[in-house]
Amino acid sequence: MTTTIDTDVLVVGAGPCGLTASALLARYGVDAITVSRFPSTAHTPRAHITNQRAMEIFRDLGIESEVRAAGISNEQMGENVWATSFAGTELARARSWGTGTDRRSDYDGASPTSMTNIGQHKLEPILRAAAEKRGADIRFNTELVEIRQDDDHVYATVRDRETADTYQIRAKYAFGADGGRSTVVEQIGFHMDGETGLGFAVNVWLEADLTKYRAHRPGALFFTLQPGRDFWLGSGTYVTVEPWNEFVLIVMYDPAVEQIDVSEEAMLARARKTIGDDDVEITIKNISQWQINHVVAKEYRKGRVFIGGDAAHRHPPANGLGSNTSVQDANNIAWKLAMVVSGQADDSLLDSYSQERQPVGRQVVDRAMASVELLGKLTPAFGITAGQDEQQGWETIHEYFGDSPDSERKREAVQAVLDANDYQFNCHGVELGQRYASGGIVSTDPMPPYTRDPELYYHPTSTPGAVLPHAWLQHGDDRVSTLDLVDGNFTVITGIGGDDWLSAASEVAGELGIVIDGRKVGPREEYDDVFGEWKKASEIHDAGVLIVRPDRHVAWRATSMSDDPLGALRSVMASLTGRG
Ligand code: FDA
Repeated sequence: MTTTIDTDVLVVGAGPCGLTASALLARYGVDAITVSRFPSTAHTPRAHITNQRAMEIFRDLGIESEVRAAGISNEQMGENVWATSFAGTELARARSWGTGTDRRSDYDGASPTSMTNIGQHKLEPILRAAAEKRGADIRFNTELVEIRQDDDHVYATVRDRETADTYQIRAKYAFGADGGRSTVVEQIGFHMDGETGLGFAVNVWLEADLTKYRAHRPGALFFTLQPGRDFWLGSGTYVTVEPWNEFVLIVMYDPAVEQIDVSEEAMLARARKTIGDDDVEITIKNISQWQINHVVAKEYRKGRVFIGGDAAHRHPPANGLGSNTSVQDANNIAWKLAMVVSGQADDSLLDSYSQERQPVGRQVVDRAMASVELLGKLTPAFGITAGQDEQQGWETIHEYFGDSPDSERKREAVQAVLDANDYQFNCHGVELGQRYASGGIVSTDPMPPYTRDPELYYHPTSTPGAVLPHAWLQHGDDRVSTLDLVDGNFTVITGIGGDDWLSAASEVAGELGIVIDGRKVGPREEYDDVFGEWKKASEIHDAGVLIVRPDRHVAWRATSMSDDPLGALRSVMASLTGRG
């Protein structure tokens, strides 16, 4: 007879999405099991750009400093270089990820944390430890082979890959975070929208001491464009894994135009050519292949089953949104599942997951795909075209640096393409600006119009649906962010004259049997608005109020004191928890 284990939530997958879900569910005390068919966490670097929203989630989990220590700082991520090789001619350089003087203050002002460059092989063990420290039950070498659901449960048959034993996990809900070849998506029948196989790539993880070529122009990405072969995006992009002696060389190719030899010998030869210095010793650690997809699920919920991460959205690495969006999906679903399985909220709250995250997935896959096309415009802008032989290619490059009006025009055209690539490398609005409209938000306030380009620039607002704006506050001897005021619970934020909101919140919390934290922010209050930053960012009067969800999105606001704060909060919280 098959053994059956009961749990509240089954998480399928222990990549960035599944591990974040696992850690957050454990933090909320949810009875959950996470399964992964791999023997452990990622064994290669893969995704690496970690943006501020993901870092805020790690801050909330108490692992921000660990992630930062294991990764490469924002300052060292900043210089994208295009060159014929590391030792060869530098063609262009551009500042990225907010490190340029024109963008530094945008990034610094938006969040208490900064971006980090950390490979998945280093990030995932930190997430795993954070989850297991909180008691998460994570089962590696455990493969989901079958999943189905009825009105009351999800039934998963899993196989222990070490013993070949199978058993059943019966859960109230399941979260499919099982990556780009998701069994959950296939067997539960989620509908995917888009195209697959739009391009192919080889990842070559290698060691090579390139300090003398990289330390003076530090950055996460080094693009090589070598004359003498057919170009698509170039000859290879080096992602920094360790400064400056470990990299992933990504080679993109179009199988319709060329076949590529992925043997170690061929990849070593390519690395040697694109490094351009035969004295540099190169050791290949791993070679893997992946493909470019442009796909998003039409819905993220089917009955009792949800999907997130690459299971729900698959796109090229441009903009570095892959693991970031996956981590943020988990942050959205975890608190909702926690409230529903504990009876604090109705199942209807879970509908808001798909309503909120699917549009984000749509935006992310479209942005990443458009960014690949933008990046592809750089090679022809230099005058380099497919089919040029080596001599023609070098002549083109020499011409590019020439003194003719034509050369100057080319240089101007390259600069214009580099500037346009800010939509990939300084795309702060897409990185941070998720605004939700769903049953998980109570609002009649329209979102304020964007005053700058909504993709390039983040527009903080406290309008319900947006992320709580960041402002620095003084709390005793500690400098804290407004985002730090939210510690896993619904949080009411008010200021001078707002005490009635706080007493109303504690009464409503008692009535509903949930925790609502109360915070008073203002000059000389417990959370002291010493710089007046909150006054400027809050968009409410001192005695107004924000209700912030555990994922730090504003759920509701009143810009000033109400005649009936208790009635107002009672009605809003009943609506948010589906217990009206
Ligand atoms: P992820 O794929 O990380 O994890 C899936 C999890 O599901 C794994 O734990 C796996 O064991 C588990 N699983 C799958 N099927 C299962 C089953 N049937 N039963 C149980 N468990 C199951 N991105 C980027 O931005 N830059 C890059 O350079 C790269 N490079 C890259 C290389 C390679 C080889 C891959 C595979 C992927 C990339 N990516 C990437 C994409 C990036 O890695 C991706 O966006 C994130 O890992 C997505 O995280 P998830 O947690 O959603 O899935």
